[in-house]
Amino acid sequence: MMNFTRSLYKSGQKRQIQFLNNRRNYSGSAILGIETSCDDTGCAIIRHDGNLLSDSLHSQNLMHLRNGGIIPDVAQDLHKKYIEPTVNETLQKAKLSMEDISAIAVTLRPGLALSLVVGMKYAKYLARLHRKPIIPIHHMEAHALAARMHHNISFPFLVLLISGGHCLLAIAQDVNNFKLLGQSMDIAPGEVFDKVARRMKLRNVAEYSKICGGQAIEIAASKATNPHVFKLPLSLAEYRDCNFSFNGLKTSVISQLYKKEKEHNIVADKLIPEVNDLCAALLMAVSRHLVHRTQRAMEFCEQNDLIPKDNKQLVVSGGVACNNYIFNALTYLCGESDYKIYRPLPKLCTDNGVMIAWNGLEKWRRGIDIITDISKLDIQAASPLGESLIDEVVNAKIPTKLMKIKI
Ligand code: KG4
Ligand code: ZN
Repeated sequence: MMNFTRSLYKSGQKRQIQFLNNRRNYSGSAILGIETSCDDTGCAIIRHDGNLLSDSLHSQNLMHLRNGGIIPDVAQDLHKKYIEPTVNETLQKAKLSMEDISAIAVTLRPGLALSLVVGMKYAKYLARLHRKPIIPIHHMEAHALAARMHHNISFPFLVLLISGGHCLLAIAQDVNNFKLLGQSMDIAPGEVFDKVARRMKLRNVAEYSKICGGQAIEIAASKATNPHVFKLPLSLAEYRDCNFSFNGLKTSVISQLYKKEKEHNIVADKLIPEVNDLCAALLMAVSRHLVHRTQRAMEFCEQNDLIPKDNKQLVVSGGVACNNYIFNALTYLCGESDYKIYRPLPKLCTDNGVMIAWNGLEKWRRGIDIITDISKLDIQAASPLGESLIDEVVNAKIPTKLMKIKI
């Protein structure tokens, strides 16, 4: 038994040494990251010691605000237009050339196929031209690990990813090892904010005209005087799992908005007078739902010894993690549950190239997914995060009572 273990260890060690030797063959001292999975063309360069040298982001937000949502063809055209200038600008800002780059990390899954393909093709073009390996990146894994760039967070940790396209709870066990505890069964919270903000016509207020729906709702909610006039349900209250649902909330807000519009005879581009209160009611309802599911995930981890009792950590990431009300509600939960809470810097919560370069570096350091035969690399529009433990969570039937959130 001992010999068997030792020989396994030795062969593992040999592979690791082989990898380290091979890695020395690659020139360069930094990772270039490229992100084009949705509507942001992002690029960044991070040195092997973890220092961010430069980053550039071309956001399509204004165009999509005008169109009332992302039109995939339009997003693709903009990625095609901006990918090269964005990468060049990043190299220039870092005062580097492609010779200084050791590998190109690029998002290949999940996301809009038409958007992903632009990043992949450009990464392959650069890789062939400069003889560099590619490190394929899973967009959600990159969101989950981004907080490790500026905080000392060790594996395993619990992670709540909340964005415009995703909502999920998972355990990050290692750079390439995730266990999924729950996910949205319909839409994501960011999409609710974007759609509701549009339906409320927040864009017609100069202050909100150039920012995304989530930000607009957060600012409007901070001006609320009486949010309790609107009653919104606790989603999936009867279901003892960690999944999410936001469709019911969206419908309920829109129907209450409609009633108020009728009551006040609101026409054309005017807003209802209670708009701030309705925004606050929505924000509180989303927060309660997120806290409730996270609370159950913490209990599931406790029951199954999935998170060390002396180092309980929650990472909140994705665009919606920028929201301070939501973050404060989750901070309250963590205080009550003996968890430390972290989120990436706000500009690293939303889509960006830095988290892709960082994920590339984390893989580079471990020798994971450094692909030289790039011809077989392809995009994947749909790709769940890690291995699913959702059935185990459902079967555990944990009767979590939502705590009273005091913020
Ligand atoms: O992570 P992200 O940039 O893209 C996706 O992967 O979806 O997230 C964008 C989403 C948008 O729906 C936006 O409304 C939301 O994040 N968001 C916010 C805030 N800032 C951005 N939601 C609530 N509060 C915010 N402050
Ligand atoms: Zn994202």
